[in-house]
Order: sequence, then C-alpha cells, then structure tokens
Amino acid sequence: MSEAYVHGYDPRENKRLLDQAGTLVDLLHSDTSYPSGSVVLEAGCGVGAQTVTLAQRSPDARFTSVDVSADSLAEAKRTTEAAGVTNVRFHQADIFALPFAAESFDHVFVCFVLEHLSRPVQALAILNKLLRPGGTMTVIEGDHASTYFHPDSRAAHMAIQCLVELQRLAGGNALIGRQLNPLMVEAGLQAVHVSPRMVYVDSSRPDLADRFTRKTFTAMIGRSQIRD
Ligand SMILES: C[S@@+](CC[C@H](N)C(=O)[O-])C[C@H]1O[C@@H](n2cnc3c(N)ncnc32)[C@H](O)[C@@H]1O
Repeated sequence: MSEAYVHGYDPRENKRLLDQAGTLVDLLHSDTSYPSGSVVLEAGCGVGAQTVTLAQRSPDARFTSVDVSADSLAEAKRTTEAAGVTNVRFHQADIFALPFAAESFDHVFVCFVLEHLSRPVQALAILNKLLRPGGTMTVIEGDHASTYFHPDSRAAHMAIQCLVELQRLAGGNALIGRQLNPLMVEAGLQAVHVSPRMVYVDSSRPDLADRFTRKTFTAMIGRSQIRD
C-alpha cells in the first residue's frame, strides 16, 4: 500500500473496527442516507464496518467500496454477505490510483481514512473529481487528542500522545479532525460544512465505557505501531 498503516490488519484490529462502527453508528450515521438510485463510492472501506450500515440505511442506492488491502476486502465481503447486504460491490484499489471515470459517482463517503494519508488534500481532490456536478462528499475523521478526563490522567494523555506521534511518523495525522474544513476547501470542495460529534462517557454508562473507552479507543492506542 502507499502509506504505512499505523493500526495494521490483524484480526483483533478487524474486530476493533467492527466494534468501533457498532458503537458509533448513531453518532456517525444518523444523518447519512442516500436517495434511491444513487451511485456511491466508499473510499477506504476496510473490513466493511461502515459499509453494512451505509448499505442497509440506503437499500436503494448502489455502493462501490474500495480499499487498498485485499485481506480487508475479503473480510468486508464476508461481513456484508453475513448481513444480507446485496447493494455493494468491492474493488481493491488505491485512492491515489482509482480505476473510475471522472464524474461517475453521486456521492463519496470516507471514514477514518484521511488521518492515515500523508497527502489528504490530494486524496480529497481525486475523490472530488469523481463526483458528478451537484454530488456530495461525506468525510468522517477522528481527532484523537481532543480528549479530556475527570479526574485528569497524565498517563492517558501520554498514551494518546504516543498514538499521535506514531501516526505522524507513519505519515498520517491523528489530529486531522480539527483541520477538515481547511483541507476540504483546499481540495476544491464547495459549501463545506463541519458537524463536530463528541463521545461522552461516565460511570452511569458502563456499556459505553466498555464498547467505546475500552474496546474502541484504548484498543486503538494499544495496537498502534510503526509497520513496514
Ligand atoms: C481505520 S481503517 C477505516 C476503515 C473503514 N472506513 C471504517 O471506518 O471502519 C482505514 C482503511 O483505509 C485503508 N487505506 C489506507 N490508505 C489507503 C489508500 N491509499 N487507498 C485505499 N485505502 C486505503 C486501509 O487499508 C484501511 O482499511
């Protein structure tokens, strides 16, 4: 692949992506649906964790989901088949060398991908060219150091800073969420609108503490490393 991917592709990471998507489904997808007949490109679909939600919420849209990893795509096919989803086709492709004609999609969806790329503006510009006039692009990215605790935890901040640094060394940017507006504008997108979303957890929400704090966020930091 064109970039080192800081989270890697082992089965525990695949499980984490599915846990993450399940935990954040309402936060991320409550306002994502595509009209009947739309042709949608999902760039960087991974193991299909978002694909299932997208396809189920817009059953009359047609999705093309691409990822650079053949193993992730194989998992994505299994995941969507198991969910009974039939409106998705998968392609192995690099975002920087996509095999699609200009203006061939009505919508583009990108989730947790730009943060791993050293050239996010170029990636956005490439994806923008694939949109038909009047098409839309949804970009969801994290901002992993926008985290605070009570009581505060120096250890937690240091662990998060390790992820930020590892991701930077791998060519990515774990803080990209706060830059989405200027990056999208620089890439030539118009009418850019940012909708910040927050995950809030306290002890009255033990289920969310388990699903988000432990299985999504802590697991992401724990398994990040520099890889070839
Ligand atoms: C954190 S995962 C997110 C997957 C999925 N969007 C989700 O939210 O569950 C990032 C994915 O981007 C893919 N990726 C990274 N660089 C890519 C590139 N240049 N072209 C296509 N996919 C890429 C990785 O293989 C990985 O599957």
